[in-house]
Amino acid sequence: MPVNSDEFRSALSRFPSGVTVVTSRDEEERFHGITVSAFCSLSLDPPRVLICVEKTSGSHLALESSKAFVVNMLSAEQKDVSDRFASLAEDKFESLEFETGIDGIPLLIGCLATLECRVTNSYDGGDHSIFVGEVEKATVNDGDPILYFRGDYRSISS
Ligand SMILES: Cc1cc2nc3c(=O)[nH]c(=O)nc-3n(C[C@H](O)[C@H](O)[C@H](O)COP(=O)(O)O)c2cc1C
Repeated sequence: MPVNSDEFRSALSRFPSGVTVVTSRDEEERFHGITVSAFCSLSLDPPRVLICVEKTSGSHLALESSKAFVVNMLSAEQKDVSDRFASLAEDKFESLEFETGIDGIPLLIGCLATLECRVTNSYDGGDHSIFVGEVEKATVNDGDPILYFRGDYRSISS
């Protein structure tokens, strides 16, 4: 018998993670962005990462169709960016500064790192899908990360 939902969520919340925003662009060239903590390095050679995205999210269809995404790793100063991309806002990119990278997908400004990825595989993961991306370009900046632990944002010093 599977674990009950409350116990499962409570256990998972005790695993600290960084926070990313995964950006993508759909077939109508609309931008999508979703806050994602389920990000993981997968392979060094070839360079691959994976993300887990809820099937009902707006980004899911874009990721399935566009075959590319960008992982924007958030810094300690970007809690508002995490909240914005975790929201149901109509236009999450409104008055937000960004550049564009692979396939014209937004690269957020002020991130610790960005990974421009080409989707190589996707897998069913229950109510989420697992998207594997081959990293075509990586950029890095200095700074501290934003952390997520027990349902709240933390910094590495607290
Ligand atoms: C800190 C944090 C981490 C999250 N991690 C994930 C994740 O790994 N995968 C996911 O599908 N949703 C995750 N979410 C929830 C989505 O960001 C949220 O459902 C968002 O509104 C989906 O946007 P969309 O429907 O416009 O794509 C997370 C939310 C927060 C606040």
